[in-house]
Amino acid sequence: MFIRKKNFRLMGLAITFFMISGIYTSSPCIATELNSSTSNVKVGETQVKDFQRDIPSLAATYKDYFTIGTAVLPNQLDSSNIQSEFIKYQYNEIVAGNCMKMDATEPTENNFKFDDADKLLAYTQANNMKLRGHNLIWHSQVPAWFFQDKNDASKPASRDLLLSRMKNHIQNVAGRYAGKIDSWDVVNEVISDSNGLRDDSGNSKYKSIIGDVDGDGFDSDYIELAFKYAREADPKAKLIINDYGMEGSTRKRDDMYNLIKRLLEKGVPIDGVGLQMHVSMYSPSAQQVKDCIEKFATLKSIKPNFDIQVTEADMSIYNGNEPTKEVTNDIYLQQATQYKKLFEVFKEEAVKKNISTVMMWGEADCDTWLDDFPVKDRKDAPLLFDRNLQAKPAYWAIVDPSKVKGVFRQSVNTPKTTIAIGAAVDAKWSTLSSFDADNYVVGKNGAIASIKTAYDNDNLYVLADVKDSTVGDKDGIDIFVDKTGSKVEKYSATRTTNTDTIKTIDKADGYQVQFKIPFSGFTPVVGAKLAFDIKINDSVGNGEIASSAVWNDFSNKQDADSSKYGYLVLDADNKILETKYGIPTIDGNIDSVWDLASSVETNVLVEGKAGAKATVKTLWADSYLYVLCQVKDSVLDKTSKDDYQQDSVEAFLDENNSRGETYDADDVQYRVNYENKQSFNGKCDKAKFKSATKTTADGYVVEMAIPLKTPGVANKVMGFDAQVNDGTAGKRTGVLSWCDKTGKGYATMAKIGNIKLLALAGK
Ligand code: XIL
Repeated sequence: MFIRKKNFRLMGLAITFFMISGIYTSSPCIATELNSSTSNVKVGETQVKDFQRDIPSLAATYKDYFTIGTAVLPNQLDSSNIQSEFIKYQYNEIVAGNCMKMDATEPTENNFKFDDADKLLAYTQANNMKLRGHNLIWHSQVPAWFFQDKNDASKPASRDLLLSRMKNHIQNVAGRYAGKIDSWDVVNEVISDSNGLRDDSGNSKYKSIIGDVDGDGFDSDYIELAFKYAREADPKAKLIINDYGMEGSTRKRDDMYNLIKRLLEKGVPIDGVGLQMHVSMYSPSAQQVKDCIEKFATLKSIKPNFDIQVTEADMSIYNGNEPTKEVTNDIYLQQATQYKKLFEVFKEEAVKKNISTVMMWGEADCDTWLDDFPVKDRKDAPLLFDRNLQAKPAYWAIVDPSKVKGVFRQSVNTPKTTIAIGAAVDAKWSTLSSFDADNYVVGKNGAIASIKTAYDNDNLYVLADVKDSTVGDKDGIDIFVDKTGSKVEKYSATRTTNTDTIKTIDKADGYQVQFKIPFSGFTPVVGAKLAFDIKINDSVGNGEIASSAVWNDFSNKQDADSSKYGYLVLDADNKILETKYGIPTIDGNIDSVWDLASSVETNVLVEGKAGAKATVKTLWADSYLYVLCQVKDSVLDKTSKDDYQQDSVEAFLDENNSRGETYDADDVQYRVNYENKQSFNGKCDKAKFKSATKTTADGYVVEMAIPLKTPGVANKVMGFDAQVNDGTAGKRTGVLSWCDKTGKGYATMAKIGNIKLLALAGK
């Protein structure tokens, strides 16, 4: 057994983990002999008796949309193993979890081992299933000899030697199965977690050894040649470029997009992109996944059949590195809700012919690599069936939601602020984040809505922004509230309702409804939870309701009881920092113009323990937003090679305050460490950005001038946040922010605070 160290780095998120190879040849799920007495068979807590033979198969459920498959281990396909029956009952495609990777197929040079891969092929042929090939070229699970000189293992292989080995490997492996593999992951994980193509710092030697062979100025040649060799070896298979993390990081997604676009334009035979989809039940959101798929789908304008495949789906029950937790029913339900949202997206994208397959990375929870990743020995439960092969709520949520027992109750924060209801939508709404009512309980592909909520002492305010371009009699919204847990109240509006408390505004692609719901008798306090749900009904002309989408209760029992509503959690005042007009010199000295400015503190704990914290001030002028951070941090540390793990401050700016779930063109993140090292995320204007720092007796000062894309004007409200990273001995040990508690500012502006530009006399 040998251990490989691998780094996953996303801006603001670091997972260093040890991947243990060589332990994957047998599955912990049993093995139970078929047709024999099974009652005494136990592996750990696992006791597999039989799978459910009377429930719908995933393959049949999704047959009109996409193939659905799983990663397998060869021994699972033995006819004596119950898994072999289970896998073909539920799925119609398989992929090798490990046995087609280079360390398995070519452990020593030119000595190929195909027994296990052949076994997979025979199984698919006997059972009329598809086979995915995973993978031909990867920096991981590749034997050491591959990159070594033939005569001296201490020296690296030359470019020519490495290319000839790649070619030989691809010819032998892809060549052997030519015509029999549906899709090949030709290259795996070639995009870096920080920027551009993965290189030596991401443990990949391909780029540095091979470099720019054809002299076109790009060093993606090893990828281009791998696709060329693969096409020669197997002219029929779909050739896929596969990677992880693109669903949650627009930076990684866009780097991949730009790479594929350039290579397609150059004629490289790439047939599609593989989204691994190793996600968690906390993130990314369904909207992020959808945006990611739709971004890649635009490549069809270059190659009409360009395919998008979900290649390795699983959904961890953990949020990052949190410690082992017990798998409660509530966790199962939360996971089921998120699986349902993702599969709604997959279905919708399949209808648009954007995706063709969804592969699970394991047939059931007894067989998941996440039991050891990213934390060793932390048992996870990321798949659709449990450790005994029984259907989990997640399975039912995507097969027949009416059979899910119970519904996870989502929570959203509702800030305190008084809102005006009227002929126009109050500008204050733009300072609040939204959530979606997009879970279909009747029909599909109809109206959905983006919802915002707020409250004051007397009222609950709801804004529903409905997308519904077909006008119908029964178009409308139902709001359900149970303030005390004892009485369901229902408030309904149609497309034309206009009263003192409900106002509807027509829009080109739908309508907006503003509700003011009196608390009458209920006293709101910060922290109180109001049971809440909302349903969007859609009809065409004078027809019946064709579709209904809800926020929380997908069992659609809102009228009868409130036990499956979500919660509005009443929060403190909405945060807006008033920003005066003024122009400081960016030199690290605190000019007197800063005395004008209002200040806020970073006192929201995002991660780790509260260490370094900042007092933050802002000023604005026509083309800049100025930010001053006075940081208290007793020990300064920049020893980590990751910028975000060093003592540093970050500013987030969402100029149009659209608070999207992924970065838009106006969204930027600027980071500056205490020695004025800058780093960027989003469409930053690096040339115009200015910063200066100075260390002080108890910390440091950072001044920034953030270029505005649209000139500032008085009264404009923009999304803004500030964050302080506390590095200690090379690790980020604490993160404090002004507003966003999620720590996801590097991916979404949804939860950041606001600044309001104030007019100054004469301006
Ligand atoms: C994993 C396997 O499931 C494990 O058994 C093995 O120890 C490590 O690799 N991305 C990929 C897959 O492309 O090949 C990985 O599979 C999971 C991450």
